[in-house]
Amino acid sequence: EFSWKLAEHPKIPKGKTVAVVVLDGWGEANPDQYNCIHTAETPAMDSLKQGAPDRWRLVKAHGTAVGLPTEDDMGNSEVGHNALGAGRIFAQGAKLVDLALASGKIYDGEGFKYIKESFENGTLHLVGLLSDGGVHSRLDQLQLLLKGASEHGAKRIRVHILTDGRDVLDGSSVGFVETLENDLKELREKGVDAQIASGGGRMYVTMDRYENDWDVVKRGWDAQVLGEAPYKFTNAVEAVKKLREEPKANDQYLPPFVIVDQNSKAVGPIVDGDAVVTVNFRADRMVMAAKAFEYENFDKFDRVRFPKIRYAGMLQYDGELKLPSKYLVSPPEIERTSGEYLVHNGIRTFACSETVKFGHVTFFWNGNRSGYFNPALEEYVEIPSDSGITFNVQPKMKALEIAEKARDAILNRKFDQVRVNLPNSDMVGHTGDIEATVVACKAADEAVKMIIDAIEHVGGIYVITADHGNAEDMVKRNKSGKPQLDKNGNIQILTSHTLQPVPIAIGGPGLLPGVKFRKDVPTGGLANVAATVMNLHGFEAPSDYEPTLIEVVDN
Ligand code: 3PG
Ligand code: CO
Repeated sequence: EFSWKLAEHPKIPKGKTVAVVVLDGWGEANPDQYNCIHTAETPAMDSLKQGAPDRWRLVKAHGTAVGLPTEDDMGNSEVGHNALGAGRIFAQGAKLVDLALASGKIYDGEGFKYIKESFENGTLHLVGLLSDGGVHSRLDQLQLLLKGASEHGAKRIRVHILTDGRDVLDGSSVGFVETLENDLKELREKGVDAQIASGGGRMYVTMDRYENDWDVVKRGWDAQVLGEAPYKFTNAVEAVKKLREEPKANDQYLPPFVIVDQNSKAVGPIVDGDAVVTVNFRADRMVMAAKAFEYENFDKFDRVRFPKIRYAGMLQYDGELKLPSKYLVSPPEIERTSGEYLVHNGIRTFACSETVKFGHVTFFWNGNRSGYFNPALEEYVEIPSDSGITFNVQPKMKALEIAEKARDAILNRKFDQVRVNLPNSDMVGHTGDIEATVVACKAADEAVKMIIDAIEHVGGIYVITADHGNAEDMVKRNKSGKPQLDKNGNIQILTSHTLQPVPIAIGGPGLLPGVKFRKDVPTGGLANVAATVMNLHGFEAPSDYEPTLIEVVDN
């Protein structure tokens, strides 16, 4: 019979304060000028590395180790934190959508049947990130869905695109829009009225997260639903090319635009009777838009018009809110996470980050579930992020503030686990600004130092790790690992994550001297961390968890 009760660890005592620090976007790579972590002064992380191999090692953070379809898939925060928190490897959204499309099961599901009811008299709108980044969405999945939906009766289709440049190279948006236009042309030749209707850059239009800035979602709403935007074009390829010509323009931040016909009329506003699918599989940056599309009562911005639509997500994005209520593919069932187990076993838990990563150490950590398991034992603190800026302008972000909150939570001894995410290396790495990213890495290292000092003070234990790579490699490389030059002979800045492994270090005065990393899990990945942390709290992990990374040798 199932029980939440965890067995006591035979050797590691209970009762130590355990700090769990996730450095976002902090991978391990060869030292060179494009490795910002190498360039930055990072004395805290450097000294942890001295503890190798017993108390510092690398773990896999990409590909199948975190439930992604292939070894060519870079890691990302959703799958990384899911694995860290859940202790098992789940086939993730990207993979589940692939399977549902390949088998055709997606078209037999309740979600598709629901939107299909609009095909006779309404338009099918597909809204989502247009790239092959594989973090939030994938172009090939959109292509298959377009084809499948038209074969299943969609006669009028409008695509609302969000340009990427964050999970893929900046400037690649033009090619993706051309590919999509080609597909839509083929559909038109088959008699389907299919067009791009609106667009905008993912960081400026629609894809905000954790309620950092509702204006982002509003811009998307205005373009997609109301057919209103500051820029109007008759052709989407032209739109993206033109808007990229503005000084400092990039794919991530393109302003919203709508596509209009000869009479300057928007070609695809969302109206009563239409169907809408948000085609991203990843949750964090779709939750806000999903609320706007789904909730009758909504006060985050003035929707002006709230059309009666049939709305479905590619996946269900929030398991607790059951949002959206209709979806094309069932999300991974990430249950019995380490956080839930530990709370059931009396572990008082504190989690903190700043807004842009807050849900990573709460929502993602807990298996894409919002809220507390037991509010009496948990406290989640969100530090407001700077909004309306790109983070290369403030590369220190809120690292210091997060570390101070963690320090206080450790020193006041009210918590057994103090968990934080330090966003700097990831958020600034995504801007592609190398100098700023160096500053970012230094700030994160200083935060690590402050947390370790607090742990030293209370006789606790620390676990310092990361969710995936980013700042350790800022240049696009060829197969032999050399920077790849574009046709003008320039290097290409890599704004995205990487395939690199990430470090994990353990230590602190509360750690028994005999605790060290085992040698028999050489392929360990992020999913092995949960059992490790449970052990450090004095518990055995559930038997179906990926094995712990540590052992206790008697001295
Ligand atoms: C984003 O959403 O910012 C990027 O696509 C992925 O970054 P993250 O996985 O580190 O959040
Ligand atoms: Co990132």
